[in-house]
Amino acid sequence: MKKITLIFGSPRKEGNSELMAEQLISSRPSDVEVDRFHVAGMKLGGCVDCRKCWSTGKPCVIEDDMQKLYESLISADLIVFVTPLYWYSWSAQIKPVLDRLLPFMSEEATANLHGKKAVLVASAGDDRESCFDGLIFSFRQSCALLGLDPAGELLKTDLYEKGEIGKNAEVMEEIRRMGRELF
Ligand SMILES: Cc1cc2nc3c(=O)[nH]c(=O)nc-3n(C[C@H](O)[C@H](O)[C@H](O)COP(=O)(O)O)c2cc1C
Repeated sequence: MKKITLIFGSPRKEGNSELMAEQLISSRPSDVEVDRFHVAGMKLGGCVDCRKCWSTGKPCVIEDDMQKLYESLISADLIVFVTPLYWYSWSAQIKPVLDRLLPFMSEEATANLHGKKAVLVASAGDDRESCFDGLIFSFRQSCALLGLDPAGELLKTDLYEKGEIGKNAEVMEEIRRMGRELF
């Protein structure tokens, strides 16, 4: 593996989902490059369904920060989707990224995401595992359509306060161990 693209969907810097994702990749080999995108701070519009994917040679005609993310995704070996659970689904900040993956479904596509590993990382305030059911369904179905290889789901409940997960050394160690299997 040469490159990881991390897409952070929380508006909270150093929140639970971010800490989990960083811990997950902390045991990567030193030569692996990491691109980090904090989408809350990016200029990012939703898909407008104009059906002009690839018409300019680029995946999408919208000139915003998604263009940098496309470049990273195309060259990535592992893509990590990181989100707080908002209303049992993706955060509003990361949802446009998912919608803007539509070009990779296009028959005109000159690049795709086939075979790249994808991991879902999410934290929730709820204490029931089932709170992630909708998000898991969305992740798995999206991977199937995009030809991504769903390589892991790191989901943790009972995390309402910012950075709470970082105080649990045992869980952090468990996440690090899980990460080792990705590399
Ligand atoms: C707008 C909003 C919606 C939320 N919706 C849910 C939810 O549907 N289920 C849940 O368990 N937690 C929900 N939460 C709690 C967050 O998922 C939880 O605090 C999470 O750990 C935040 O991750 P972060 O620290 O990475 O931002 C919500 C929080 C906010 C601000």
